[in-house]
Amino acid sequence: MTETRRTVLEVLAGKTVTPPPIWLMRQAGRYLPEYRATRATAGSFLDLCYTPDLAVEVTLQPIRRYAFDAAILFSDILVIPDALKRNVRFEEGHGPRMDPIDVDGIRDLKPDGVAEHLQPVFETVSRLRAELPATTTLLGFCGAPWTVATYMIAGHGTPDQAPARLFAYRNPEAFDHLLSLLADISADYLVRQIDAGADAVQIFDSWAGVLGEAEFARYAVKPVQRIITSVRAQRSNAKIIAFAKGAGQLLKGYRQSTGADAIGLDWTVPLSFARELQQEGPVQGNLDPMRVVAGGTALEDGIDRILDVLGHGPLIFNLGHGITPQADPEHVAALVARVRGAQ
Ligand code: CP3
Repeated sequence: MTETRRTVLEVLAGKTVTPPPIWLMRQAGRYLPEYRATRATAGSFLDLCYTPDLAVEVTLQPIRRYAFDAAILFSDILVIPDALKRNVRFEEGHGPRMDPIDVDGIRDLKPDGVAEHLQPVFETVSRLRAELPATTTLLGFCGAPWTVATYMIAGHGTPDQAPARLFAYRNPEAFDHLLSLLADISADYLVRQIDAGADAVQIFDSWAGVLGEAEFARYAVKPVQRIITSVRAQRSNAKIIAFAKGAGQLLKGYRQSTGADAIGLDWTVPLSFARELQQEGPVQGNLDPMRVVAGGTALEDGIDRILDVLGHGPLIFNLGHGITPQADPEHVAALVARVRGAQ
């Protein structure tokens, strides 16, 4: 039996696992030379996401190197607006771009054909489950409606998502409609990932931290709760991690109000507060990705403090946000070894 333990799933069920399982957000990415080599053969970034041979390969790269306890499907949260025909492209050095949407565009959005468009993603998931070691948890994911909507409204990334915040104040009904539509499409997308072989899924609300209290309830909590309720109505056993980056004190009660099994914590969450949140249920996080760039004592001290405070309860060790391209792969090896107690 022990050889088929999936420790990430054990933590999601509320168990304390020692040492805690570890994976890293954006673990497949530009800090790895083998990723850059595959990326160079793929054409566009979306081609990489939609070519199962290549997406499987880059998903497996960090597993081969570090034997992380979870693999995360290689894709992007913006495949949903791409499937909604918003002309998504990733320009070198500019990040993502798409056609900005307005009230009329929101009214005209049609979910038809989304699942067909995303078929290569489901194929990637099923091939991954077949190729991964039995002990590696396979994670699917989607963006939370708020975070996806911020890119759809602005047409690109912004430092504070001012365009989406302004749009929501000016056009609350249209904005609610957009979020509900994205929630329903995302729920269907996650169910299909689960059916293809994903053991658990994560919902990324990377821009939750720019919302005020009332807006957090309406635009972050409610649509994520809608996704989770819908996924569980269809697949009662679904295991779900909700990550609301930058939400601070608003994380109190977020696990219960959304219905998630575990919540992700960014590195600004004080460990004393993280410990309180862990009394409510499993947590994931929360090392500052810059500590991985720095290495040495900055890395070691950050790891040790998290393990001291959160290591005695249900914890999935992770970063507080994605690993950055400047991270040294050797520092990642040192991180994994230290969490596993080897150095
Ligand atoms: O974690 C993983 O290894 C799985 C793959 C993954 C990617 N994006 C690959 C990617 C996941 C889970 C995401 C999620 C994602 N994408 C989020 C939520 C999490 C977060 O980081 O906040 C967001 C906001 C996006 C949108 C996005 N995609 C942006 C803003 C960018 C450009 C910034 C950048 O780092 O270049 C991307 C591109 C992207 N997505 C890359 C990767 C590996 C880099 C593109 C490249 O290789 O050329």
